[in-house]
Amino acid sequence: MPATAIELKVETDVVLARQAGRKMAREMGFGSADQTRLATAISELARNVIEYAGEGTCLISDEPNEHSTRIQVVVEDHGPGIADLEQAMTHGFTSSGGLGVGLPGAKRLVQEFDIESSPEHTRVTIAISRQKQ
Ligand SMILES: Nc1ncnc2c1ncn2[C@@H]1O[C@H](COP(=O)(O)OP(=O)(O)O)[C@@H](O)[C@H]1O
Ligand SMILES: [Mg+2]
Repeated sequence: MPATAIELKVETDVVLARQAGRKMAREMGFGSADQTRLATAISELARNVIEYAGEGTCLISDEPNEHSTRIQVVVEDHGPGIADLEQAMTHGFTSSGGLGVGLPGAKRLVQEFDIESSPEHTRVTIAISRQKQ
């Protein structure tokens, strides 16, 4: 599959990113539960970009090899950054009156989760993978 890049600028772009993730997972042969997990994680990360950074990007790519199928998603922005990552990853922590479950929830839904942030840059990389039979 070709990689898909989604510009995150307005609320409806969250839905586009979510749908693109689901489509990639479906086309790569992941089951519907995995499709939903990936779509939901993307949705939370993309929503955070719109809410806290204003705009950013979501890049979805697949990396099949001999033994496994892997989909990687990089959600990136040049907003204010996250000063305390540990706090941000804590279930229930929110700076906005939200539920504070977006980041920890997304982490639980995928096999790989990495977050890096500095002032003016936040990048979250997630991936799902499965072994080929
Ligand atoms: N892209 C981002 N840029 C800046 N801050 C962020 C970003 N994503 C998350 N955060 C910070 O991490 C906190 C936790 O995010 P999250 O778990 O999604 O909960 P919620 O969005 O409900 O507050 C947010 O309240 C915000 O302070
Ligand atoms: Mg959130």
